[in-house]
Amino acid sequence: MPTTLAAETQYGFNNRTPEGGKQVGHLAAYLDPHTFAILDGLNLPVGGRYADIGAGAGTVAHWLAEHTGTDGSTLVVDVEPEHVPPHPHIEILQADIATAALKPASFDAIHARLLLMHLLQREQILTSLVDALKPGGMLIISDWATDHLDDMFIDGPAEIRGVFLKFQHALIEVFGRGGMNSTWARRVPAVMRSAGLEVHSGQTFNQVLHGGDAGMLLHASNSRQKEKELLDAGMTAGELELLRKAMGNPDVLTRSWPMHTTVGVRPAA
Ligand SMILES: C[S@@+](CC[C@H](N)C(=O)[O-])C[C@H]1O[C@@H](n2cnc3c(N)ncnc32)[C@H](O)[C@@H]1O
Repeated sequence: MPTTLAAETQYGFNNRTPEGGKQVGHLAAYLDPHTFAILDGLNLPVGGRYADIGAGAGTVAHWLAEHTGTDGSTLVVDVEPEHVPPHPHIEILQADIATAALKPASFDAIHARLLLMHLLQREQILTSLVDALKPGGMLIISDWATDHLDDMFIDGPAEIRGVFLKFQHALIEVFGRGGMNSTWARRVPAVMRSAGLEVHSGQTFNQVLHGGDAGMLLHASNSRQKEKELLDAGMTAGELELLRKAMGNPDVLTRSWPMHTTVGVRPAA
């Protein structure tokens, strides 16, 4: 059995739990259309060298590998890469990005979605990703901002509102104790500039979600992965059950956490 590095990082989920595969699948289903539209707009060179760090279900790595054609290559770096399906032009490195040594000046683009917000060494890691870019290469970072939780519930039965918001506050508190940063996503453009990148563009993605949508099923999945910690944080088993049912009820409407994406470019030498 391969060793797991996740316990040595601050990342609070575990791809190897029964819920882990579902969770990264829900993320991909909700976020990929937005991410793919951004990547499409960047005119990334065919035949280039790409990396997806913290690849989850591997869908973005596959998009990059398909885009790059037979002459290109895509590197996945993930502590638990088991959900990334094989592809002839994807190389998988099971590693912690905090210690993985990426070859300097070798990538046309590096993508990391919902990773750096979880890792305490996020700024040093971002700097190391900048060093790994070729001149003209692009860094694409997406993270949730999780500091406006009370704005998330839109409509639905009153008892669901209370449970949904209690869950959100408990979950973010649990992750905050583990080192997750709720506001980092909005700081990324400034951090990219300090690390020597030009800020190319940035945008925020958020959708109104109905129960049953992937973005809602994600909450139910998260509640299963972090059940013990949520109970310790004061939620009851009954509340968690109510929440999980509500996340499948199309009458319940919420907003997700806003996801901020920033694209930076390494200046030509
Ligand atoms: C929240 S998931 C995001 C998955 C995917 N990027 C997405 O947005 O759908 C974070 C991913 O990063 C990986 N990960 C966590 N800590 C890591 C680390 N220190 N180095 C590399 N990968 C890490 C996890 O195993 C997981 O696959």
